[in-house]
Amino acid sequence: MHRTIPLSSPDVGEHELRRLCDAFSSGWIAPVGPAVDQFERAVCDRTGARYAVATSSGTAALHLALIVLGVGESDEVITSTLTFAATANAIRYVGATPVFVDVDADTWNMSPGLVADALASREKPPAAILAVDLYGQCADYDRLTGLAAGRGVPIIEDAAEALGATYGDRCAGTLGRIGVYSFNGNKIVTTSGGGMLVTDDPDLAARARHLATQAREPVVHYEHREVGYNYRLSNLLAGLGVAQIDSLGHKVARRRAIFERYRRQLAQLPGVAFMPEASYGIANRWLTCLTLDPEQFGLERDALLDQLRDRGIESRPVWKPMHLQPAFADFPALGGEVAAALFRTGVCLPSGSGLSDADIDRVAAAVRGAHGG
Ligand SMILES: Cc1ncc(COP(=O)(O)O)c(C=O)c1O
Repeated sequence: MHRTIPLSSPDVGEHELRRLCDAFSSGWIAPVGPAVDQFERAVCDRTGARYAVATSSGTAALHLALIVLGVGESDEVITSTLTFAATANAIRYVGATPVFVDVDADTWNMSPGLVADALASREKPPAAILAVDLYGQCADYDRLTGLAAGRGVPIIEDAAEALGATYGDRCAGTLGRIGVYSFNGNKIVTTSGGGMLVTDDPDLAARARHLATQAREPVVHYEHREVGYNYRLSNLLAGLGVAQIDSLGHKVARRRAIFERYRRQLAQLPGVAFMPEASYGIANRWLTCLTLDPEQFGLERDALLDQLRDRGIESRPVWKPMHLQPAFADFPALGGEVAAALFRTGVCLPSGSGLSDADIDRVAAAVRGAHGG
């Protein structure tokens, strides 16, 4: 019996164990400590961001980003419908209304044309545009920034899936006023659970840091002038992050090589199309995604997922768009057909940087077999 091939499992080893033990030995078994500072510096060095605040999750960082930009109950936030629910959840945490925008088929990211329509159709400018870098590919920030600047709207970049990707010569996460990364267990860099807010604005960074530590004032007794959150990253987990970030370049290269290996073996199958790469940047290929035309391929998407599962291979549909989710169906949406089609036909294949070429070949053979059988 073959071992199960997971979708995107942590790629950790001796180096991570050593850093975890270093963090342990430092005595800082707390949501502050030297490894947290080191991890924040390492992410800034790697991405070019000026300030970083390590958080307990990417979702917490998104929540803080919205709060520090002053987004609240009477506000709207334009975002992509094709994303993980955390993006939309964070908008609801601050009581704001998400305005979902469809994606472009050639990037799978929020359509700048529809963002322009959304901006033109709102009476009051939205409080923010929350762009998502889907599956490790940046949205089109030149166009989004042009639109946002014209209305004075800040951009938050949900780069949870995109650490290590680039847009031109800039790094994912640094393309808006605030960027957010996730380090949960399936991400390209993991701390088991964790996230980070990055920004070039010292005031926003300081305010996020303050709110993330229960908004505790810097005095000996426990003084709180506003409601805060327990959102800081544990020092132990930051130790893992320090080790992981060292090999980010290798991890991106490996995920891209995995994508290419799948593409070489599967692109010629009828009805199979791989997620396109936009000319403006380099994706980290966090997950290799493809779409299946069931008539040409000879099998429905879900039947392929079932066959892969029966062969011990973990695969997933592409995210179900937010405008189709019962929790968000009542909020405004512009378009949505492109994202809905990607959801109906899209498959994410095992893509962890720790997978071997033999693992990838096993998955590719199973997809080819499903087509033939
Ligand atoms: C696009 C996107 N946004 C936000 C998140 C939330 O990150 P976390 O799981 O660290 O809270 C994730 C991943 O989980 C994600 O894929």
